[in-house]
Amino acid sequence: MPDKNNRIGIARWRAVQRLELDFWSRWTTLLPYRDLDLPKYWREEVAQFGTTWERFRGLRVLDVGCGPVGLIHYIEDAAERIRIDPLLPQYDQKLPLQGPQLSISAVAESLPLAARSIDLAICFNALDHMFDPEAALDEIARVLRAGGTALFMIHTFPPWLRPLFWMDRIHPYHYTAEAFAATVSRRFRIEERKTVRRHFDVPPRNWLTPSCWKYLAAGMVLASTYIRASHAD
Ligand SMILES: C[S@@+](CC[C@H](N)C(=O)[O-])C[C@H]1O[C@@H](n2cnc3c(N)ncnc32)[C@H](O)[C@@H]1O
Repeated sequence: MPDKNNRIGIARWRAVQRLELDFWSRWTTLLPYRDLDLPKYWREEVAQFGTTWERFRGLRVLDVGCGPVGLIHYIEDAAERIRIDPLLPQYDQKLPLQGPQLSISAVAESLPLAARSIDLAICFNALDHMFDPEAALDEIARVLRAGGTALFMIHTFPPWLRPLFWMDRIHPYHYTAEAFAATVSRRFRIEERKTVRRHFDVPPRNWLTPSCWKYLAAGMVLASTYIRASHAD
């Protein structure tokens, strides 16, 4: 579990971001994502937080680490949508999605937003890609209004896999579901927490294709942990 003493360096984070950009430049060609219906995918992911699409209606919503096709692009009922990601300029060169009123190329560790100005914050599959997840959580807690909601998801791993974490280059940090919940609960009140096995859609006819083996292996050990939380005070 990362803490202030074993944070990654900026060079390692930049290397991770290069891998991230490479992934997003070809993700639609990769088997598990090829036929992904994004609006349907996001509706199903929101349900995993034990909530519905209605929750966004009329709110000022922030998505931190939104990626090129993140949830923020699909929640049309929000009063205001803000998306933040350090790679936004590169993403928008390829796929400029319409929707959010405010697009900011910045890092979560230093959010350029006023304190208590956000009704609902999303940080989906991004915290464990950042260079300082603890600082990012502090910042999300700072900008969220009292009583506001935060939706967090990361991929979590069983503790016995620890010796192999170094092989997973795109995640600079690895959490177990318990460690992740403990980290979030230092700043937020957890309302709902759920861990489900991560499923990759690889049809049986592709099981012998070497490029698919990593998805089959990951499907055996990787989970997604969803946390819906509110501001702690
Ligand atoms: C796996 S992608 C997830 C994107 C999106 N949330 C989704 O689920 O489709 C992780 C994202 O986190 C962003 N990210 C990495 N470090 C960050 C940081 N320090 N602050 C904010 N975003 C960051 C990356 O640029 C990338 O777009």
